[in-house]
Amino acid sequence: MANSSSSVEAIKNELLTANQLQKPGESSSFVIFGASGDLTKRKLIPALYNLACTDLLPRGFKVFGFAVTPMNDDSFRESMREGVRASKEANPYDVRIWDEFAKNLHYITADFQSLDGYKQLKDRLEESEKGSTAGDNRLFYLATPPGFYADIVSRLGSSGLVTKHGTSQTGWTRIIIEKPFGNDLDSAIALNTSIHKVFREEQIYRIDHYLGKETVQNLMAFRFANSIIEPIWNRRYVDHVQITAAETLGVEHRGGYYEGAGVLRDMFQNHLLQLLSIVAMDPPVRYGGTSVRDRKADVMNAIVPINPESLSDIAVRGQYGPGQIEDHHVPGYRQEIGVNPESKTETFAALKLYVDNWRWADVPFYLRSGKRLPSKVSEIVIQFKRVPHMFFHMSPEDQIEPNLIVIRIQPDEGISLRFGAKVPGPEMHIQQVQMNFSYTDAFKAQPSTAYETLLLDAMEGDPTLFNRADAVETAWQVIEPLLDIWKATKPFQPFPNYAAGTWGPSAADTLLAKDGRAWHNLHSVPVAQAQTSISLDESGEPMGSRRSQNDAVSTTGTTTPSGGRSLA
Ligand code: BG6
Repeated sequence: MANSSSSVEAIKNELLTANQLQKPGESSSFVIFGASGDLTKRKLIPALYNLACTDLLPRGFKVFGFAVTPMNDDSFRESMREGVRASKEANPYDVRIWDEFAKNLHYITADFQSLDGYKQLKDRLEESEKGSTAGDNRLFYLATPPGFYADIVSRLGSSGLVTKHGTSQTGWTRIIIEKPFGNDLDSAIALNTSIHKVFREEQIYRIDHYLGKETVQNLMAFRFANSIIEPIWNRRYVDHVQITAAETLGVEHRGGYYEGAGVLRDMFQNHLLQLLSIVAMDPPVRYGGTSVRDRKADVMNAIVPINPESLSDIAVRGQYGPGQIEDHHVPGYRQEIGVNPESKTETFAALKLYVDNWRWADVPFYLRSGKRLPSKVSEIVIQFKRVPHMFFHMSPEDQIEPNLIVIRIQPDEGISLRFGAKVPGPEMHIQQVQMNFSYTDAFKAQPSTAYETLLLDAMEGDPTLFNRADAVETAWQVIEPLLDIWKATKPFQPFPNYAAGTWGPSAADTLLAKDGRAWHNLHSVPVAQAQTSISLDESGEPMGSRRSQNDAVSTTGTTTPSGGRSLA
């Protein structure tokens, strides 16, 4: 049984969060360290602009950019305007909204390591807070190279910019920290220790933008807001789970960073393990920072440690060579700018993990991610067990395949269910069909961007979708044995071992084939393009509910491999 005083404390914290949610902080200052960088221009400011468009920013909201690149308020505003206009994620540019928003953008040219900049920042913040009626709330954002994190935090502390240690009568101070959080377990622990010298854990928001994606939040809604899902979400019914985050892009201009990171640090330690923990978590007591994060932590703690002895049965690594992406020739990884021409860095990995608990014992979780793959797609596939007994007469064209739930994180956000259906006609033939829920069709709107959600949550004091110190450290614990072994040993196949535009090295297919399984994109079972879109009609009713039975699943008669869009 849980220690009763710690559970009372947990409930108090959750209620505190709920109260803060009802009354978002007002008059906040948002300080971005590294404001001249890509992240600010491509993600943070477009997200804030979107919030301005929907009137979700607190009254008196101000941004203070802080970076070493010389700029003044005007040139910063102009650069951010370009970013918003160029962003595919930003709402359409509206000059009136922009002008109103841009008035509150400010810039301080300063070195992250010199105390002068922090003094200037303090003066500007205090000046701006003078007229505030609602308090001096400060949200710091570390968007710099990670090597500066500990220094910036320590200087924030020594300059008296973080004096309140949490909620006080006059306002709050919080800090958002970008990934990567550490480079391995030891450095993550060291970073947590330095940050905790200045900020309490409740003030720290470690960001993983995957958690802000609508579809990732919907995963919890799908699992826990529907009574038919939870009873079958376990080892009794699920054969295995696949989690894929595939990208068509290469390392672009980030060769220098990527050389030191590789795909395990860049995608697995954070995004993929976060997805795994939400797929596998038990129901939390309530939707809030403590309960949700406790249940996710249980999953991370239950992941079976990677055994160096059986590595070839559970892990595959790859690096892309030159190839074709969407009819364009693209260079190999070793030819990218900033990359060592003999680099051993992995740009692809596939991994089989087990979650050793009552719900998931013996169910494999296959994870893979890579750069320069044929499609940009992040999705989770839950493959169910086959029916125990097949009594239909089987002919070669019949396909009795296991049911699949495919959760499309991006793009084409939605969920589909594959099941067998009788082909119309006098005889009993079974064919695979697919019911499809699409966000855009159902809600007639694009999901909001991850950064919009997360920035708003941090301003509102809701940590549910951010990583706690223990989760970051456990995720490093999971990945680190593999990082160490791969660093120390040569790859089984010399690099590069997959051409750009293919689904990674063939060993990734073998990883599943050895278990009698296949990646979803390689699945060769034809699926009738029978789509039941769950859309709302004019009165807001789900259209499917009013359709006649004949309309409910409309088979076009055309069949394509289930990998239609490769991972559709
Ligand atoms: C980032 C990685 O965290 O996630 C990038 O550093 C990667 O290398 C990106 O491209 C993928 O994010 P998304 O949202 O495009 O899947």
